[in-house]
Amino acid sequence: MKVLAILYKGGDAAKAEPRLLGTVENELGLRQYLESLGHEYVVSDSKEGPDSDFQKHIVDAEILITTPFHPGYLTADLFERADNLKLCVTAGVGSDHIDLNAAVKKSVQVLEVSGSNVVSVAEHVVMSILLLVRNFVPAHEMIERGDWEVSQIARNAFDLEGKVVGTIGAGRIGYRVLQRLVPFDCKELLYYDYAPLPEAAAKTVKARRVEDLKELVSQCDIITVNCPLHDGTRGLINEELLRHFKKGAYLVNTARGAICDKDAVAAALKSGHLNGYAGDVWNVQPAPKDHVWRTTKNPLGGGNGMVPHYSGTTLDAQKRYADGVKGILDNYLSGKSQEPQNVIVGIGKYETKAYGQR
Ligand code: NAI
Repeated sequence: MKVLAILYKGGDAAKAEPRLLGTVENELGLRQYLESLGHEYVVSDSKEGPDSDFQKHIVDAEILITTPFHPGYLTADLFERADNLKLCVTAGVGSDHIDLNAAVKKSVQVLEVSGSNVVSVAEHVVMSILLLVRNFVPAHEMIERGDWEVSQIARNAFDLEGKVVGTIGAGRIGYRVLQRLVPFDCKELLYYDYAPLPEAAAKTVKARRVEDLKELVSQCDIITVNCPLHDGTRGLINEELLRHFKKGAYLVNTARGAICDKDAVAAALKSGHLNGYAGDVWNVQPAPKDHVWRTTKNPLGGGNGMVPHYSGTTLDAQKRYADGVKGILDNYLSGKSQEPQNVIVGIGKYETKAYGQR
C-alpha cells in the first residue's frame, strides 16, 4: 500500500535536530516502520498545482498524512481522483485543509492526534496576550537598535490584571487558556461556544458563558480565537464584528488565519481600533512575503505579535503527534478500533461536533 505524507521542509535545522519529526527530512520517524511492513512511503513538501507530488501520488495512495503547518489542501476535486484513499491522518490538530464533507461522501476517514499540541498552543496564546498587553516587541526592538526611551514603550504598556479576556471556542485549547489565565487575576474570563462547558469546569476557572458573539467581543479587552475553521467560522472576525470590539482591544488568533478577515484586521490595527494582533496562523501558508499581517502596526508603531505557524509544533508537540500518527496507523493496519477522540470523520459520517456539526 502507498502511504503519502505531505510535510514541511526542515533543511539544515532538520538534519541537525532529529527531534524535528514533522519535517520532510525526518518523516515523522515512520519510514522504517512502514517499509518493514512492506508498504511504500512517499514523503514530500511539494503540494501546490497539478505537477506537485501531492497531486501525483494522491491518485493511488491509501493513506494520506498531512500537517496543518504546511497544509496539503485535499479539495473535493482531488477527492474525486483519489480512488484508493481510505484514511487521512492529520499530524497535529485541525483538519480544515481536508474537505470534510467530501470525505464523508467518499467514505474516507479523517483522524487527528487530538490533544497532541493543545498545551503548546495554550502557552503560546498566553505569551501572545502578555507580549501585546505589555508592548514587548517594540521594547525589544528598541534595545536592539541601541535606543533607550522608556516612555515611548510605557505609554502603551498595561497589566493583564484587571482586564476582561474572552475566548471564542472553549474546547481543549480554549479551556487550557482560561486555566492558565486564572493566576493573573483578570477582571473576568468569558467564553463563547455553542457547547457549554461542564458546570464544574466553568466553575474551576470562574468563566462566564456569553451566548451572543457581538456581546462577548464588546465586553472584552482581549479576545482569543480557539475554534476550528469551518463554514460557520470562516471570516467570522470581519469588519462588521470588529465594530463591536472595544476601541484598543487586543486580538490573538492561533486557531486558523481564515477565521479573521485579513484586510479588516489589518485596517483595524492600523487605525488603532485594535491595539494589537498576534498569532501564528495565516489565511495562506506559507504567507507571501508582502502579506499585510507581517508588517501592519498600530499608530504607535507596535501591536504586531505575528510569527510563522509554529505554536503547535514545539519539539515536545512533535514527539506527541508523531507517536499519535503511528498509533493511528497501527490501529488501521491491524484492524483495531481507533481512539474515539481522534476520529473527525468516521466511515460516511462526522464523529465530532467541533467542525460545526450539531
Ligand atoms: P476542540 O475540538 O477541543 O475545541 C474546539 C471548540 O470550538 C469546541 O468546543 C467547539 O464547540 C468550538 N466551536 C466550534 N465552532 C464554533 C463557533 N462557531 N463558535 C464558537 N465555538 C465554536 O479543538 P482544540 O484542540 O481546542 O483546537 C481548536 C483549533 O485550534 C483547531 O481546530 C485548530 O484549528 C487550532 N489549532 C492550532 C494550532 C497551531 O499550531 N496554531 C495547533 C492545534 C490546533
